[in-house]
Amino acid sequence: MRRNHLAGILVISIFTWVVIIYMALHDRPHHSSVISPDSAYGIGKLEEQIKEEYNANSKLFEDVKRVLESQREQNKALAEEQANQHEEERKEDELRLQSLSGPGVIAVLVFACSRTTVTRCLDQLIKYRPGPDQFPIIVSQDCHHQGTSDAIDAYAGQVFHIKQPDQSDIYVPPKEKKFRGYFKIARHYGWALNQTFFVYNFSSAIIIEDDLDVSPDIFSYFSATLPLLHQDPTLWCVSAWNDNGKKELVDVDSPELLHRTDFFPGLGWMLTKETWLELSRKWPPSYWDDWVRKPEQRKGRACIRPEVSRTRTFGKIGVSNGMFFEKHLKFIHLNDRYVDFTARNLSYLLKDNYDAAFVKTVYESPIVTHQELRAGTVVAQGPVRIPYNTKMKYKVAAKVLGLMDDFRSGVPRTGYRGVVSVFFRGRRVFLAPLSRWKGYDPSWS
Ligand SMILES: *[C@@H]1O[C@H](CO)[C@@H](O)[C@H](O)[C@H]1NC(C)=O
Ligand SMILES: *[C@@H]1O[C@H](CO)[C@@H](O)[C@H](O)[C@H]1NC(C)=O
Ligand SMILES: *[C@@H]1O[C@H](CO)[C@@H](O)[C@H](O)[C@H]1NC(C)=O
Repeated sequence: MRRNHLAGILVISIFTWVVIIYMALHDRPHHSSVISPDSAYGIGKLEEQIKEEYNANSKLFEDVKRVLESQREQNKALAEEQANQHEEERKEDELRLQSLSGPGVIAVLVFACSRTTVTRCLDQLIKYRPGPDQFPIIVSQDCHHQGTSDAIDAYAGQVFHIKQPDQSDIYVPPKEKKFRGYFKIARHYGWALNQTFFVYNFSSAIIIEDDLDVSPDIFSYFSATLPLLHQDPTLWCVSAWNDNGKKELVDVDSPELLHRTDFFPGLGWMLTKETWLELSRKWPPSYWDDWVRKPEQRKGRACIRPEVSRTRTFGKIGVSNGMFFEKHLKFIHLNDRYVDFTARNLSYLLKDNYDAAFVKTVYESPIVTHQELRAGTVVAQGPVRIPYNTKMKYKVAAKVLGLMDDFRSGVPRTGYRGVVSVFFRGRRVFLAPLSRWKGYDPSWS
């Protein structure tokens, strides 16, 4: 194509040059009276030669034009053929995913956009998954970033690569211009989850973002907790993330320990098709994570979360801000001890078993202050409790102990029935509201 292009330019240049000379000489006799008959004869001959040259060049020019045109046609046909082939492959993948989507199969939906480091996440998922048919990995890509697309295609045969087709400009209210990324993310999630549940027909899916490291036992964790999601209507998700998962705040010797939480943690989480049926109908245009935390969506339901985080984020460049990564996210401890959750009895996490035991443990534990705890002057053995009855009291205690101190829709991170449970200097500590607690106050933020 490039060579043809150059040839075309060259021919056109010669042609133009010849035409100019021809015109100049052709005009001459009319204006010049000083030319001798002899030289007039010579000029006549030259004129003839130039005319011949001109004709030959015209023909050449036409030929080149024809060649270029046919090349264009060929390219168009090739592009069409490629598009057809892509469409065929897409259809094939779709059929294959549909045939894989049996009851015990969990789709692993990886969200990618323009970070080629998605490979770090894919390498781990492929290494740890027990079987490709039990955990088919679907990488859904937004943004159509070529480098990322190529990086994902290098896993052909191991993962399914799908692309969010709607790349049109997205509506963003003028005041929220700098949050455009959040609007695109919500659109991408809406599309990819619809594909997973309604087109490929999976009954459950794990959602992984392209900047997550995962623990070796992550698949065991999700396999074993899936029956809880089906069994207990007061649960709506299982998350691999502990928002207060710094090493100093978790019991690293109890990697098998799991909790219920009213706070949606995200960052590696599982939901069922039933839940998506409910959420998909009213999916928001942006900020979907804070949206699912609202009472209208949560409807009093909880998620399962681990004591020791099964995911960790390594990406600070992205939509969410880098400060949060530097100050907090990068300190989350990723579990490194393999637990076979499928061999364990997890029914203690069902609401009917959990709540009574939890409330008893929390409210029977002796009261201490955060000052005593920090000073190491607590004499009681076992778990202790720091009561709070205002937002400020909670925030002060949380800050002193190094916990996240924010609320979403009135729920503190990792909170369950208002209680935040951490492991501090070798003992269980509960930051707990008064025992007559009646529910969250959405105005706490
Ligand atoms: C996803 O499916 C739901 C139907 O449950 C539909 O209302 C919604 O518009 C779909 N979203 C996208 C992004 O296609
Ligand atoms: C989708 O899956 C359900 C079970 O999860 C099954 O009953 C149904 O036939 C499947 N539909 C299609 C179109 O494969
Ligand atoms: C599992 O634990 C529950 C209590 O949470 C108990 O009632 C049940 O008997 C246990 N099941 C088995 C098989 O041990």
